[in-house]
This record gives sequence, structure tokens and C-alpha cells, in this order.
Amino acid sequence: MAFGVCCRDLFTYATLLVSFVVGSNAIDVFLEWNVALEDSDNIRPVIVINGMFPGPLINVTTNDVVHVNVFNNMDEPLLFTWHGIQQRLNSWQDGVSGTNCPILPGTNWTYVFQVKDQIGSFFYYPSINFQKAAGGFGPIRVNNRDVIAVPFPKPEAEFDLLIGDWSYDDYKRTRSMLGTHQMTNVGISNVILMNGKGPYGHPLSKASESFTVTRGKTYRFRISNVGNALSFNFKIQNHLMVLVETEGSYTNQITLDSLDVHIGQSYSVLVTMNQDEADYYIIAAAKLIPLVFGQSFAGVGILHYSNSDARVTGPLPIGPHPYDLEFSVNQAKSVRWNLTTGAARPNPQGSFNIQNVTLSQTFILQGSMEEIQGLPRYTVNNVSYYTVDTPLKLADNFGNGGSGVYQLDAFPLDSVNDKAAYGISVVTGTHRGWAEFVFKNNMDVIDSWHLDGYGFFVVGFGKGDWTPDLRKTSYNLFDPVVRSTVQVYPRGWTAVYAFLDNPGMWNLRSQLLKHWYLGQELYIRVHDDDPDPAKERPPPDNLLLCGIFDHSKAPANSPVPFPAP
Ligand SMILES: *[C@@H]1O[C@H](CO)[C@@H](O)[C@H](O)[C@H]1NC(C)=O
Ligand SMILES: *[C@@H]1O[C@H](CO)[C@@H](O)[C@H](O)[C@H]1NC(C)=O
Ligand SMILES: *[C@@H]1O[C@H](CO)[C@@H](O)[C@H](O)[C@H]1NC(C)=O
Ligand SMILES: *[C@@H]1O[C@H](CO)[C@@H](O)[C@H](O)[C@H]1NC(C)=O
Ligand SMILES: *[C@@H]1O[C@H](CO)[C@@H](O)[C@H](O)[C@H]1NC(C)=O
Repeated sequence: MAFGVCCRDLFTYATLLVSFVVGSNAIDVFLEWNVALEDSDNIRPVIVINGMFPGPLINVTTNDVVHVNVFNNMDEPLLFTWHGIQQRLNSWQDGVSGTNCPILPGTNWTYVFQVKDQIGSFFYYPSINFQKAAGGFGPIRVNNRDVIAVPFPKPEAEFDLLIGDWSYDDYKRTRSMLGTHQMTNVGISNVILMNGKGPYGHPLSKASESFTVTRGKTYRFRISNVGNALSFNFKIQNHLMVLVETEGSYTNQITLDSLDVHIGQSYSVLVTMNQDEADYYIIAAAKLIPLVFGQSFAGVGILHYSNSDARVTGPLPIGPHPYDLEFSVNQAKSVRWNLTTGAARPNPQGSFNIQNVTLSQTFILQGSMEEIQGLPRYTVNNVSYYTVDTPLKLADNFGNGGSGVYQLDAFPLDSVNDKAAYGISVVTGTHRGWAEFVFKNNMDVIDSWHLDGYGFFVVGFGKGDWTPDLRKTSYNLFDPVVRSTVQVYPRGWTAVYAFLDNPGMWNLRSQLLKHWYLGQELYIRVHDDDPDPAKERPPPDNLLLCGIFDHSKAPANSPVPFPAP
């Protein structure tokens, strides 16, 4: 039995009802979201949630159950995904095209998921139809339960800081040109927004982001790269940062002057306000974009000391050169797991030691851009994912091994096909096996890979080609950090391990939006024949049907795989 306790008005429009589940500290958190496309200060319409851009904070504690009733008031189908939330035994709530039918315009659908055994900083966004380019994202904090110590003193306050590159082009226009030879002319990053606001001092910015702080106090900034194409270097003028957390792992605390954040990644840093009472620049400088008159292409906000009456002046502080990837790789290698601290559970993070694990599978996945039938597509091992109307998870549930919607294990998991082609890529992940993923990037951009359902143990980064001997010479198996999203440097490789103990249908993708939209993704099917629902959740009561299971459409569509080459 649950009883309503109170109504907290977190933000102007977001009403949060809280009730207690008897016999547990976990609570049920109820959210109601009205999602619409609205005019904005950012040149063109944005996707707002309850009138807000970015959307409302989801502020919960380990093991809470989140109910999000999404009302789709846009003119096209919608799905939200909860980036980094592992949806334990419950890929039904993951909100990507392979797991859920979209929420149709003018209808609502309620996600119900538990933030089981997790802590940390994450964010959410629309996952289909290229809508993420128009906003619809917002922060997620999963706080520690009171009984578990956090490995640093409680900060004075916490700030969510969602930063990302932004295009002035309408997302529908950009979308209509993706996959054509005109696509390089649309969706260009025109500006970098901080919490939806334009750079300080930029002629087109109606407002810029600013944080008011008190001298002598320490604050936690939860920084996420919600952008679509660009990595950035984050820096606060005259202030050092102590790195403490990334995507649900407490890191070894290292002091940094600046921090690289790649697409889809989140970090927490602590900043102590130990400078003169004044205003300071906060900058997010794009990587791999040339300097213009010595200045970066950057998002700019303000750190305002409460007693300061001085406005910032002068040039932006200079961080590492945008093409200095050596800096970036070295910093990435220095981000390590704190083995002794607890996180979501009291036992130390390091009690899960991977030094002697036996690998059951190795995936070698190369992201690249190729032409298929004369048109540009992004591929993994030369296969470009073809999105089908019937979610793979539904196909699995109602049919045996896919209902003919997909063919399991037709994807080349450790080699590149000679010829680029479409495919509905679904591969078997061995349940309870350790998988090694080696991501390769033959492109000139910093790629970023994300896996739903799991954390990656980030064991290595390298240049050039990957070979098995690098496991002995270039892997850190001692204290690799665990996170959901990893960068892959141009012409380089990144290696990660994952323990596939979470049955479900899980999306593995490039987090660069254009790459994802044009096919740089696949699904890992981790299946356990044991029908015990304690292993994998049955479909929710409000399961939506679509594709070949939409019986309102007669006759039922037969699955049409993809355009014949
Ligand atoms: C988030 O939740 C925590 C724990 O319940 C609470 O202490 C904090 O004030 C909340 N923050 C916001 C911004 O709601
Ligand atoms: C739609 O919203 C109504 C009203 O809040 C709610 O009762 C219903 O369960 C929601 N529908 C779904 C499918 O979640
Ligand atoms: C790791 O966490 C512990 C708390 O368990 C803390 O005392 C220690 O300083 C942390 N180590 C580093 C290197 O950050
Ligand atoms: C891994 O195996 C080696 C050799 O057997 C052993 O010395 C080491 O203690 C093991 N490490 C862990 C963390 O179990
Ligand atoms: C991928 O396919 C294209 C032709 O579609 C081919 O030119 C290219 O060499 C292939 N890539 C690899 C690594 O084999």
C-alpha cells in the first residue's frame, strides 16, 4: 500500500508526488511531462518539457521507482531514453526504437523504472526521429542512500550543467537531408549552449548561464555533454576542479585545470570558491574546431561571486589547443576508479576486480562512413542498422527468436564486411559472460560509443590499429573506471569490458547523433532461457503494440527487411 505524502513543487511546472513503498526506503516518484515543440530564444523551435528547456531535473535516490507519464503534444512519434540508467532486467523501459513502440502524437504513455543499485549523474533525451537535435533533454541525479558514505564532504550546493553544440537549422529540415549528398550543408553546429542558453557576450544570446556562489564554499557541478557532434574542454577561469564522479562511478580524486567531456558523457567536479570576489568565465571549448583569432568555438557562462559587482572582461581563458589530442588521451587514462569507496552499495567499488576474468566474447567494432546505393550512411563493420517498425524486443517476446523481424547473429562481430550494406543487426551477448569491446574509428572526428543496460570497464585507449598483444601491454585491468559512454579518438581504438549480467535487448550505438541516426548502431541480445520473471521482467501492463503486432492495421504488415542492394 502506498500513501501520498506531499507534493513538492520542484520547478514551476513540474509537480512531483512522493509516496512511500512500505518495507523499503525506496520511494515512488511520479512525474507528469507535457512534451511540445515551442518557439524559443535559440533562433528556432525547441522541444520543451512542461514549458522548460532543458527539461526538469529527475532527482532521485538509489532504488527509487520513477513513473514518468509522457504526454506527446508534438506532431510526430516520440520516445525518451534514460542515458546511463541501466534498467536492470527491464529493457522494456529503455525507450529506443528496438525496445519500445513510439508514443504517438496526442497520446500519453507512462514509463516505470527503478534506478536499481545506481548512483551518479546522467541525463535523458528523445531517442528517435533526430529530435534530440531540437532539445527535449534534461538532467538526472541519482543520490546516495543516507546509509552509504559519499567519498567527499557535502558540497554547499549542486549545479546541473548540460552543455552541447546546437544548430540554428530546424531539426526536421536537417533530418530530411541526412543520408543525401547535401547533408554536409545542414545541421552545422552554430553555437554551444549551456543549460539551453547562448554564450555570454554572443550577439544572438538573449540570456547566458550564470551560477551565483559564496566565497569559501565548495560546489558540485554535474556536467554533461548533451551535444550532437562536438567534444569540449570544460574550464572555469582561475579555479581548479576536483574530479569525483563519472556516470555513476566515484573516481580517484584528481585536481584538474580543465576537463574534456565527450558526447554523451557526464562528470561531477568539486569547485572551491577560493578567489577574489569577482565574476569568472565558465567555458566549454569545442575540440577539433580551429581557433579563430586565437579564440575557441565555445559555450560561455559566468561564475558570479555573490558579493561581486565586477563583470567579466577580457579574453576567454585558454585551455589546451583544440587539436591537442595527446592531452585528451593522457587525461582519459588518468580517470581511474576509486577502489575503496562504496557507491550504490556499501561494499567497495573495487571488490569487483577484473584482473583475472575470462573473456567469453570479443567484439571488434569499426565505425565508419560509407556509401550504400550511392548515398552516405554510417556503419559498424560496414553494416548500417536499418530501423524496423516492429521493436526487436516485441518480436522476441511474441515470437520465437525474432518472429522473422530480424535474423540473430547475422552481424560480423569481429570483422568488417567487404561491402557496405543495410542490416538489422542483433547479436548474442553471452549471459553472465565477460565481453570485450574494441571500438575502432577510421574517421576524423572523436567518436563516442554508448551501451544501454551496462557499465563499461574502460581498459585502454590507443592509436592506430588494435592487436590482441595490446591486451598485455596497453590495458589497465587494475582500476579501470566504469562508465556508460566512451570516446574513440580519430584513427584510434578504445577497449572496454562489460559483464553481461543484465538480460534484455540492449542498444549499442555511436552517440554522435548523425551517426546514430544514419545507422551506426546495433543491438546486443542477452537472453536467458529460464522464464523466471525474477530474471527478466515481463512486459509492462501498458505495453504498446506496433509494427507487425499492431492488429488495428489490417492486414498485418509483414516485416520488410530493407531495401535490396
Ligand atoms: C534532491 O534530492 C535530495 C535527496 O532527497 C535533496 O536533498 C535535494 O535537496 C534535492 N535537490 C533538488 C534540487 O530537488
Ligand atoms: C495517460 O494518462 C492518464 C491520466 O494521467 C493515466 O491514467 C494513464 O494511465 C496514462 N496512460 C498510459 C498508457 O500511461
Ligand atoms: C577513495 O575514497 C575514499 C573513501 O572511501 C577516500 O577516503 C579516498 O580519498 C578516495 N581516494 C582517492 C584517490 O580519491
Ligand atoms: C590474478 O591472478 C594472479 C595469478 O594467479 C594472482 O597473483 C593475483 O592475485 C590475481 N588477482 C586477483 C585480483 O585476484
Ligand atoms: C566497406 O565497404 C566498402 C564498399 O561498400 C569498401 O570499399 C570498404 O573497403 C569496406 N571496408 C572494409 C574495411 O573492408
